[in-house]
Formats: sequence, C-alpha cells, structure tokens
Amino acid sequence: MRTFVRPDGRCFVSLEADEHELPPGELYAIVDETDADPYERLGFVRQRREYTYVIPVAAIAAELPPDLGMVSAAAADLDRLRKLDDLLRQDLHPGWRWKPDDFQDETFQAAFDPRTYLIAAADEEYVALVRVWRNPGGWRLGFVGVRRDWRRRGIARALVAEVFGVLLADGVGEVTAEIDDENIASRALFEGLGARPVGAQIELCRHDGASARVLVRPSGPDDAEAIAVVQVRSSQAGFAGIFPAEARRFYESRGWRLDGLEKDVESFGIPVTEVRYRIGLR
Ligand SMILES: CC(C)(COP(=O)(O)OP(=O)(O)OC[C@H]1O[C@@H](n2cnc3c(N)ncnc32)[C@H](O)[C@@H]1OP(=O)(O)O)[C@@H](O)C(=O)NCCC(=O)NCCS
Repeated sequence: MRTFVRPDGRCFVSLEADEHELPPGELYAIVDETDADPYERLGFVRQRREYTYVIPVAAIAAELPPDLGMVSAAAADLDRLRKLDDLLRQDLHPGWRWKPDDFQDETFQAAFDPRTYLIAAADEEYVALVRVWRNPGGWRLGFVGVRRDWRRRGIARALVAEVFGVLLADGVGEVTAEIDDENIASRALFEGLGARPVGAQIELCRHDGASARVLVRPSGPDDAEAIAVVQVRSSQAGFAGIFPAEARRFYESRGWRLDGLEKDVESFGIPVTEVRYRIGLR
C-alpha cells in the first residue's frame, strides 16, 4: 500500500493486490470507477465522483477585463502564486496549504510549460490562474480558478483562450481535465467549450470510528482565513489512535493557531472533544 498525506491533511492510500489491513484513522482514495471493489470490501464508502473530460483545443474569442494583465508562472512571484493557489483550492479541498518547497517542486515539475501556466493579475495582486501540464501521455488541464470576488467576468474563459492559442499553434488537438460532478460552474465552463466526458473516477473514504475527523471551512465570504476543527480526544476506547496526534502536528507545524475554542460533540455516534485552529490565507 502506498500512502500520501495531501497539503489539506487528508491521507490518501493506493492499495496493492491482496491488501487486507489498513492503518487506523480516516483514509481516502481516488480510483477509477471500475477499480472500486477492493476498496469497498475494506469498508471504504463512495463520496464523490469526478469525470475525465476531453476538451477540443480551438480558437476562443475571449479577453481579460481591461484592468487585468497576464503573467507566466515562470515570471511570477512564487510566494504570491502559492497563496493564490491555497486560496483557490479552498472551494475544492478545504484546508489546503502548501509548504513553500513542495509548491515550488510541484510548479516546476517536468510537465511545466511557461506558456501554459498563466496568472491574471491586477497590478501586483494575483486573482486567477490556469495551468495546463505537458504530460507524456498528453496535455492535461490541471486547474483553472478565479478568486470569488472576480468571478463571472470572463476571466477563466480568457485564461483558457490564451493557453489554447498556444496549443493550437503547436498543433495540439485536445486536452483532458478532471471535473467534479457537482462543480456546476466548471462543468458549464468546459461544456461550453465542447468538452465531453470519457471516464469517471470516484473518491472513497474510510472512517474506522476511531479517528480524528478534521473539518475545515473558510471563515468568511472573502476567504481571508480558514478554520480547521480537529477532534483531539474521546472517552471511547480506541480513539487515541495515531491520527489525533498527527492531525495536531500537521496544523501546528504549518502555522495554524489554536483559537481557544474547545467543545464536546458527537461524531458518528462517538463522543469527542474538538478544538479549533485558524490560519490567515492572505
Ligand atoms: C469555474 C471558475 C474557474 C469559473 O471562473 P469565471 O472567471 O467566473 O468564469 P467565466 O466568467 O470565464 O465564465 C465562463 C463560462 O463558465 C460558465 N460559468 C462560470 N461560472 C458559472 C456559474 N457560477 N454557474 C454557471 N455557469 C458558470 C458560464 O457558462 C460562463 O459563460 P457565460 O458567462 O457566458 O455564461 C470559477 O467559478 C472558480 O474558480 N471555481 C472554483 C475553482 C474550480 O472549481 N475550478 C475548476 C477545477 S479545474
């Protein structure tokens, strides 16, 4: 089994053949819909579906609003870009927070192309980004995101249009992207560009009743701060597994601060004590 703790603190596993035992705590997996059986046999439950789309590369008539400019990630201030990325991911993966070194490695990976990773900026302020990776198996649209206060002004479409112009000149015919079934805005954006679904993946979660459950949500409409509610102990035997301590270490090593709130609640029928962490996102 391979495990990977993502920057939002969630632990993802990938099972090898004939795996029967799992570590304690809350575990996640993303697998092709047709490969879910071994996970479900081990108690994983389906909780989200995303579709793989093929998007035809075509010329798109769209421009950024006049108060915005475009900059390549290769020329960007990496610190500001990382903070924008953390902020944009809150809609999809609450609590996501990159370590600077990891973000640098992720950004300048082998599939990076400075022409297809672009940021929309209002002067020094970064407001949106698109990144399309040059993967060995074909071009993949990894992400497009726009800050909430800048949405519905044609920014996402204009960023995709710019990248598609580059790809069209290179003779690239299509890109792939994964889009959550429930992500109405991005499905509308891509379906409007002629995208068609060609496969589906599901996210599964396994909760063994003895784990720390971490709930993270933006604290206000401007996403200036995120809150993480971390379950730290329980009167129930078995709760003091490895995960509560790991969860606390995860937040504390990344600069989250306890805000003093502590309360007793029930989680999946188990009495637990929650504490609350906060972190600024700008
Ligand atoms: C999806 C997202 C990038 C759209 O950004 P945007 O700049 O607001 O989008 P645009 O203004 O360029 O809209 C282009 C088209 O997308 C569709 N669209 C965008 N937002 C929509 C919404 N909230 N509801 C329905 N359709 C929407 C529309 O078809 C729109 O065309 P129209 O304005 O002519 O109707 C933005 O909502 C976002 O950042 N979401 C969170 C991150 C995310 O989910 N990214 C996708 C993962 S790859």
